[in-house]
Amino acid sequence: MRKRGRVLPVAAGISALLMIAAHGASLEDGKAVFERREDTMKHMGRPLFLGIGRVVKGTAAYGPDTVTAAETVASLASTLDRTLFLPGSDVTESKIKPAIFDAGDHVDQLIAAVQSATAQLVPVVKSGDKAAIAVAYFAAANACNACHTEFRKEE
Ligand code: HEC
Repeated sequence: MRKRGRVLPVAAGISALLMIAAHGASLEDGKAVFERREDTMKHMGRPLFLGIGRVVKGTAAYGPDTVTAAETVASLASTLDRTLFLPGSDVTESKIKPAIFDAGDHVDQLIAAVQSATAQLVPVVKSGDKAAIAVAYFAAANACNACHTEFRKEE
């Protein structure tokens, strides 16, 4: 992943330009949606899987940063909606499965489950109770992964 970092954006940029040339400007919107989605996902992934995940695993110490991480995830999760998964955002470099575009209310339900689980995570992380944090962490991670399992392609 790291090594490909410099080559992929160029290749993706070229293919995006070719597609725009072929199909008009609407594909640019798909690219913008993809970028917004990737940005949001990355900014939720780091605090959840690393910030809190490492505390749960015991490889990092619990502290004020753990609380900030939980607040960041919950706050970003509260911004999730279907506009992040619009048709046309399945650009070349995207791992999204196009089936999500037709999944309707089911997407709202997956999002609602994440919003609820990450909101519940905040007070639990603040409590500092390690066992309770582990339970709330896995509930949140499972809610995120429910959508990934269904609508994100494997590596
Ligand atoms: C409704 C569906 C959905 C929900 C809910 C969801 N994700 Fe995602 N996530 C996706 C899809 C689809 C992708 C692939 C995006 C792409 O490649 O275009 C993705 C990609 C990611 C990535 C990889 C980003 C990258 O490209 O580097 C991370 C990290 C991630 N999600 C974290 C999370 C976390 C953390 C949560 C929960 C707090 C979450 N996601 C909730 C659908 C979802």
